[in-house]
Formats: sequence, structure tokens, C-alpha cells
Amino acid sequence: MNLRKDFPIFGNRPEMVYLDSAATSQKPRQVIAAMTEFLEKHNANVHRGIYDLSQEATDIFEGARGKMARFVGARDEREIVFTGNASEALNLVALGYGKKFLTSGDIVVISAAEHHSNFVPWLRLRKEIGIRIFMLPLLPDFTIDYRILDKAKIKKEKIKLVALTQASNVLGTVNPIAEIADYLKRRKIKAKLVVDAAQSIPHMKIDVGKLGCDFLAWSGHKMLGPSGIGGLWARRELLEAMDPMLSGSHMINEVTEEGASWNRVPEKFETGTGRLEGAAGLGAAVDYLQKAGREKIAGYEKELTEYLLETLIKIPRVEIYGSKSGKNRLGVVAFNVAGVHAHDVGEILNRKQICVRTGHHCAMPLLARLGVESTVRASIYLYNTKEDIDRLAEGIAEVKKIFRV
Ligand SMILES: Cc1ncc(COP(=O)(O)O)c(C=O)c1O
Repeated sequence: MNLRKDFPIFGNRPEMVYLDSAATSQKPRQVIAAMTEFLEKHNANVHRGIYDLSQEATDIFEGARGKMARFVGARDEREIVFTGNASEALNLVALGYGKKFLTSGDIVVISAAEHHSNFVPWLRLRKEIGIRIFMLPLLPDFTIDYRILDKAKIKKEKIKLVALTQASNVLGTVNPIAEIADYLKRRKIKAKLVVDAAQSIPHMKIDVGKLGCDFLAWSGHKMLGPSGIGGLWARRELLEAMDPMLSGSHMINEVTEEGASWNRVPEKFETGTGRLEGAAGLGAAVDYLQKAGREKIAGYEKELTEYLLETLIKIPRVEIYGSKSGKNRLGVVAFNVAGVHAHDVGEILNRKQICVRTGHHCAMPLLARLGVESTVRASIYLYNTKEDIDRLAEGIAEVKKIFRV
């Protein structure tokens, strides 16, 4: 895959090895250009002006919604709510749906592999309205052990929400969401299924109809788009039934001194002026990924993931957390070098201009289960090369030399 040339940052920092795409992706020229073009040629507030410029801005903003809808297989573009990011989208489910429809004693099922953004909002609901959280453990292959629900001593009719990550930001595991949706249906568990697609959407083809979920949350910045814009998909009836999280400005239909009524969906959830140039960039990111071909991207990344795993496995004292096979996983690999703190590894790699993430990766409950406080995490995307991985291996060799391990 020869797309690296589209990313100006690599030309500007030729020595850099960027292996932190699970935190945020780099941006192609096409995305940067779409945002610049919006600001230079079309900038005005949306939905508000009757003049041409405002109409152009609205067309670009709403055009991005339509692109995003097609990208996730939504039937209706009004089912796409723009949020700031995946965290905000998940909070919207918890506060806009959960707080309204769940009551004390209702159960929210999550997994041990969740990012804090799909864990802490449920902790809040536990504190505020008394829901219960049931955490699914992981199987030896690091996928979610959902079948444990058969044996769990909980009332199945109390399970009102199942909120799971499609791909773990630590282990890289891709969870079988469609299979889980089918299982819930067969067991007559009438819970809403929430999917955290923050890590999966940049790398895999997603079709909400085929997944069988009720909510899908993602961030634009991890899928080549700008930061500050992400989204939530849900069926229109669900969005219509939910409460907004914030109020004021654009989410209003009518205001009198006595009260206010909400706008239709999705505007009901989009309080205040949105990320206008961000939407232009997000639309361009969708175009870019579609043009590159999602199957092609996945194929290339699989090859790189396997190479990354093979490379790390060969290095003595490197311990990988997660599956060592390239099957059903993304190129997100957490590891430690035995005898060296993850931060020290990251610091020495940084001296060689190798960017990796170190720490708990916003998944502290998972790390606790893995028995570690921090790990190094290398994550790849379509612009990485085998040479990047070779440089990582050289960097780790240097770490071992310095720490004499
Ligand atoms: C699995 C997962 N969910 C949610 C998030 C939150 O994304 P954001 O910080 O863009 O809201 C992340 C970010 O790393 C993630 O990896």
C-alpha cells in the first residue's frame, strides 16, 4: 500500500516512526485540504443563514453526515448524531438513554476489555440511579466470554444494556459483535446493544444492520479525520425517544417564557455550533478510506500486524499482552520488556524518534486483570511500513542494551 506519501507529516519528519495510531491517526493531505478549503471558501454558520455562503457551509456539514451514514450502513442520515468524539457519544447513550429508561437494579453488561469511556459512564449511572454492572471476563484468546451469561446468577430480564468494544485498544482483539447480537436474541435478552467502534471503524468495514447493534459510537480523529468530531449512530425511533444531554442553541424547536421544545433528530443532540471545518475534514476522511478500499486496507494491515507480532515474539524478554496470532485482531500490540518500566522503554524509543504509547491506555480494570500497571503499546495504520517495525525492533534492542537485560 503506497499511501504514505499522502501524509505530509512523514515528509516533514522523515526520521519519525509513528506507532501510536490507536491514540490518534495522522491526517492525509486530502483531509487537511478539505478543512482549509472550507475555511478559505465556504465558512459561515450552518442551518442559520439564508444567504448562499451559509447554504454552502450547511451542504458540506450535512454532506459529511450523509457520507458517515453510508460509511456505517445507516439507512437514514438523520440517524447520525455528530458528537465531539467517541467518549461523548457513549456518554450520550448513558445519560440520554440510560438515565431515562433504566432504573435501580437494572443491569448493564460490559466486558473486562473496555476503555474507560465505555466504563466510567456506567459507573456514574450506578452511583446516580443504582444500576448494576456485570462484567464479562475474557477467554484465553482474549475475546469476550459472553456465553458466561448462561451460567451467571443474574436475572436475564434485568439486563437492559450490553455495551461492548468491537476492538480492544490494548489487546487489539476484534470481538464477534454480530455473533453476540445473535446470542442475545436467541436467549431472549431484550437488551440494547451498544458498540464502541472507536478502534474498529478506522480499520474494518462496519455495517450497523449486519452487526445487529442499537448504538454505535466512534471518533473521527482515529479514522484519519480531525479531532473534535465523532458520532453516534442509533435507529431513529431510539434517538427520538432519548433525552438530549445538553441544551440551548441549535437543539431547540421553540422557546417561550414558559418552556422549550426540542428540535427533531439529530439536531436535538447537537447543542451549539458544531465543528464545521471538522465535518468537512471528516467527510474527506470517509472519502479517502472508501477510495483506498477498506478490504485492501484490512489486508495490508493484517500483513503488517503479523510482521509486528513475529518481530516482537522473536525478541527475548518481550512479553506480549494479547493474542500472538494475527487472526481476529488489529495491529494494536501491548507489550513490556521484562525488567524495564514501560515509561523507560517509551523514553528511549522517543530518543530514536519512535512514537509509542505507554501507560494504562485508559483501560485500568483490564490492566489490573492482566496483572500489570502499564505497558508499551505499538499500533499501526495504513501508512506504516515493515521498516517502521524494524526500527521498533532496533529501538527495543537499544533499550535492552542500556538496561542490560
Ligand atoms: C476503545 C476506545 N473507546 C473509546 C475511546 C475514546 O475515544 P475519544 O478519546 O476519541 O473519545 C478510545 C480512545 O482511545 C478507545 O480506544
